[in-house]
Amino acid sequence: MTTLAFDVYGTLIDTHGVVRLLTTFLGEAHAPIFSQRWRDKQLEYSFRQGLMRDYQGFKFCTTAALAYTAAEFERKYSLGLSNAQQTALIEHYSQLPAFNDVRESLLRLKNSGHRCYAFSNGSHEAVSELLKNAKIFDLFDDIVSCEEVQSYKPNPDVYHHFTKKTSAEGKGTWLISSNSFDIIGAAAVGWNTAWLQRTDDALFDPWDIEPTQIIASLDKLKL
Ligand code: LAC
Repeated sequence: MTTLAFDVYGTLIDTHGVVRLLTTFLGEAHAPIFSQRWRDKQLEYSFRQGLMRDYQGFKFCTTAALAYTAAEFERKYSLGLSNAQQTALIEHYSQLPAFNDVRESLLRLKNSGHRCYAFSNGSHEAVSELLKNAKIFDLFDDIVSCEEVQSYKPNPDVYHHFTKKTSAEGKGTWLISSNSFDIIGAAAVGWNTAWLQRTDDALFDPWDIEPTQIIASLDKLKL
């Protein structure tokens, strides 16, 4: 039996879906740069909390990273975001769109008998809301949130928690993720991995660990 763990933010859900709203606040030139910086800072905060063993939740990382990025843009480019604009961005974060290839590919995998799980740093509540808004909630057997171990990827404990909770075996488990730190984390505990290279300029970390597969879109996954 094959168990598929799908990363959520950046893999199923397009985190740069906020760019349109950011464009109305900051203009076309700065919006994508802001979006990328916000995402990088959000992940950095999760890594740091993991190292400090001071779990505050992924929502905290997202909100604090937004405040930091807004302060940085104010200082660097004299482009500020009001509190109301920051609140609107956080609200928008629960309504991000799924990538175009998600629904059809997941349906095909599910119909072929594979067990499909959403596996995320996000809280159970946030991920449920996100998947429902993106109209892909029905495609999953369940959601496994890192909140359940009060830590974040790539702490090996969260991957072990996943296999325990889903009664999966490491060898029969696949992580599908566009985040190379997540792929390396799953490979380190013996899972199969498919790195989803969502954009041509996405690079895999040179850590002497290769993904089992590199795919350009979800329909290319071969099991
Ligand atoms: C997640 C982050 C890593 O969904 O994208 O877990």
